[in-house]
Amino acid sequence: MQLAGKKIVLAVTGSIAAYKTPQLVRLLIKAGAEVRVLVTDAAEAFVSPLSLATVSKHPVLSNIADGAAWNNHVELGRWADAMLIAPCSANSLAKLANGLCDNLVCAVYLSAVCPVFVAPAMDEDMWHHGSTKHNLEKIKTYGNNVIPVAHGELASGLVGDGRMAEPEDIVHFLDSFFSGKSNNLPLNGVRALVTAGPTYERIDPVRFIGNFSTGKMGVAIAEELANKGASVTLILGPSQIKVSHPGIRLVSVESADEMFNAATAAYETTDIAVLAAAVADYRPDQMAPEKIKKAGDTLDIRLVKNKDILATFGRQKKDSQVLVGFALETNNEMEHAVGKMKAKNADMIVLNSLNDKGAGFGHDTNKVTLLFTDGSNKALPLQSKNLVAEAIVDNIVQLRDAKKTV
Ligand code: CTP
Repeated sequence: MQLAGKKIVLAVTGSIAAYKTPQLVRLLIKAGAEVRVLVTDAAEAFVSPLSLATVSKHPVLSNIADGAAWNNHVELGRWADAMLIAPCSANSLAKLANGLCDNLVCAVYLSAVCPVFVAPAMDEDMWHHGSTKHNLEKIKTYGNNVIPVAHGELASGLVGDGRMAEPEDIVHFLDSFFSGKSNNLPLNGVRALVTAGPTYERIDPVRFIGNFSTGKMGVAIAEELANKGASVTLILGPSQIKVSHPGIRLVSVESADEMFNAATAAYETTDIAVLAAAVADYRPDQMAPEKIKKAGDTLDIRLVKNKDILATFGRQKKDSQVLVGFALETNNEMEHAVGKMKAKNADMIVLNSLNDKGAGFGHDTNKVTLLFTDGSNKALPLQSKNLVAEAIVDNIVQLRDAKKTV
């Protein structure tokens, strides 16, 4: 059981299926998880907080403030290894999709840095309504995992889709997620390496040469590889992004040299390497041991070249390995990117153009073109970095399959 020791926040919202949640809590605890329960006001009409407090062995929280006590939603969101919203009513789903924050469940959801699982429950007609479908698609684009509804008898007496998945199935879904074995994922058993973020090259103890990369795109790729079952080593330069996917081993580095060493240590045994980091091409020849004092009108800093991780890996590449690089260009994009693919022996280059609005550093969206060694390319639309990551990883899976059949 992969749930052993995992901390789960269970949020119960207003649906008849809430009556099943004490059983869900018992099963999670039986699997070794620690569970804290939140309820909405509407949920309390369907399940007693006393039952949930008794089975979870912790107080059940329902309001952001209880009397004079403040329930710290940020703390709960950070405490959890997973947040499970079950049952998730149509109303709560709409709130999640639109970022509303009028109760504790929404506040914890918005603060959660862990994977979030949503188990919808509603009557069939509500389930098939266009707005419900739209909201579901929307929350998926935020990286939430939707646990499929079941078909069967509904509270209305109708028989159809919309029943919350059974507690056993929900526990199984979570367990599979943590063991990376859900639904025959295409990258089960595969090892992947991702570099992301900027690098900082120290000039003196207080200054560095860096760049505007945030690491968002590379982290999204690492998460997508892990979602598809890969065991991922993410080598991340200085970045504010919180990484909490159970399938990712995070190695934090600062300089290009540290990134090179960490990546080289993992490359030999890796099946897929995606080098998304914005690595500094040069570093100061020497780091001044003390802060450089202001003196003349100009200051010369001699820079020396850093080792190129992608080019090094390209030279060492085994036939079975898939090697993907990025190219960030401002002019003659295609020509430069194709040149990099050849020079560095990559199987695919993700071309980012800084000329595209909404693309590049810091944005939540990106617009890229995927270039392949046979001369073909795929221009993707402007979309969230998660969707771009999905498309990149789908293409990596295809490249891997093609190598296997050769
Ligand atoms: N890269 C790397 N190690 C370096 C420099 C770049 O692994 N020292 C990788 C990047 O992670 C990216 C690809 O090489 O996948 C291309 O990076 P980019 O900066 O666009 O290309 P450069 O080769 O550095 O060329 P230039 O800066 O002249 O455009």
